[in-house]
Amino acid sequence: MPGARENPLRLGVLVSGTGSNLQAILDAVATGSLAAQVTVVISNRPGVQALERARGAGVSALTIPHKDFPSREAFDRALVAALREANVEWIVLAGFMRVLTPEFLDAYAGRIINIHPALLPSFPGVDAAKQALDYGVKITGCSVHFVELGVDQGKIIAQRAVPVEAEDDVATLNARIHAAEHELLVSVLRDIAAGRVVPLVSGV
Ligand code: GRF
Repeated sequence: MPGARENPLRLGVLVSGTGSNLQAILDAVATGSLAAQVTVVISNRPGVQALERARGAGVSALTIPHKDFPSREAFDRALVAALREANVEWIVLAGFMRVLTPEFLDAYAGRIINIHPALLPSFPGVDAAKQALDYGVKITGCSVHFVELGVDQGKIIAQRAVPVEAEDDVATLNARIHAAEHELLVSVLRDIAAGRVVPLVSGV
């Protein structure tokens, strides 16, 4: 198949919290349903569950606290150094709660993806499920997109719709969205590994 790879896709996953999307990737790699290798997981917050999940799967798990750096640029330079050291090819933001600088975006141009719990461009930023409930939408969902400058900005790769039920609260809606996210993110990574999704060429 054109674009198919011989070696597993080398992924760096950036996290800040629970890491259920990271777990979905690790599980898909472990069962052989995703031809990838999570080479390094990096958290900007110490002690989060995502780091435990990485270590549980035998994956190198680093903490690079953003608070230790004088600027976003300095923090991003440390991230890029660690990702280069691990020789990653694509970056997955899986619940990573920091906005990246142009320097980081240039280092992995067109090869950074993010998962967001809404049908972008609706409801960017935090509390997407709450925003959906407050607005009263009957369908929300999740999006995987290329990361470009700004919060939850960049060309959308894939989306999945999720119904909002009348009795939903933030927790029940988030749980339904999360389940969809896990499938969607792994499915996009399969497409990248198979060469069906290729690095975004931007700058037009
Ligand atoms: C997900 O809803 C993701 O879309 C958002 O942050 C959340 C992370 O969840 N960017 P988890 O840490 O993967 O469980």
